Amino acid sequence: MGKYDRYRDLLKSDFSKFKTMATDAKKGLPQPPKVKLYGADAELFDLPSVDESTLTNKNIYVCIKERRSTRFYSDQPISLDELSYLLWATQGITGTNKAGLTLRTVPCSGATHSFESYLLIRNVANIRQGVYRYLPVEHKLLFMFQQEELENKIDEITLDQPFVPNFANKAAVLFLWSTTPYRSEWKYDITAHKKILIDIGHVCQNLYLASESIGAGTCAIGIYDQASVDRLLGLDGHEEFVIYLAAVGKKQ
Ligand SMILES: Cc1cc2nc3c(=O)[nH]c(=O)nc-3n(C[C@H](O)[C@H](O)[C@H](O)COP(=O)(O)O)c2cc1C
Repeated sequence: MGKYDRYRDLLKSDFSKFKTMATDAKKGLPQPPKVKLYGADAELFDLPSVDESTLTNKNIYVCIKERRSTRFYSDQPISLDELSYLLWATQGITGTNKAGLTLRTVPCSGATHSFESYLLIRNVANIRQGVYRYLPVEHKLLFMFQQEELENKIDEITLDQPFVPNFANKAAVLFLWSTTPYRSEWKYDITAHKKILIDIGHVCQNLYLASESIGAGTCAIGIYDQASVDRLLGLDGHEEFVIYLAAVGKKQ
């Protein structure tokens, strides 16, 4: 077997075998929670309701055309309205299907939505710096903790960036998306993993386009330190782990 074969296989569709696969869903095993749960003592932060008046550019054609990965940011903070809009654009709930699964602003195979959105907030108006988790059902933030030397931590997580060193530590906010693969594996068994990778691409693309519509810029970050970021967020690295990052800030 060549060194690429295992990874190339991940890119292929296994769906012809799916009919005969004994998935946990078919076996009648309980469906895992659709979103990550939290305790009654969690510190929640209300987000403003999302309204199209937040957008400075509503022209989808221009947003698609102008979108670029942006690695230089101004010192201007992102407003809470804007942050609320970006969270909604990437994971916001806009309906439910017949099975009671959430439908969101992004497509997702089987509406399994295996992602959680964590934020390292650095420069957002009227909210203190720190690490947060987005609660899509409530459209609120859950405050996790304040991070000492946030910029150094961002450098540690984002490793040696090849294009613009340490650019992410100037971002207003760093999005960190984790996956809980079993949400998809329960339904799709070993065909889940390719789908998860495709699903997260839609999330980040919405962040790019939504950022563009508020005069902000985004850069996707696939180069990151897995162990360090999972440790920071208290993830076990097996049942839940970070899959993708993106930095956002107002354009210079
Ligand atoms: C999956 C993925 C991972 C990426 N990871 C990084 C990264 O770690 N650092 C970075 O500076 N840019 C990263 N980028 C941005 C790409 O370098 C960028 O999309 C590419 O150079 C094309 O430029 P454009 O987005 O402006 O069209 C990533 C993009 C994607 C889609």
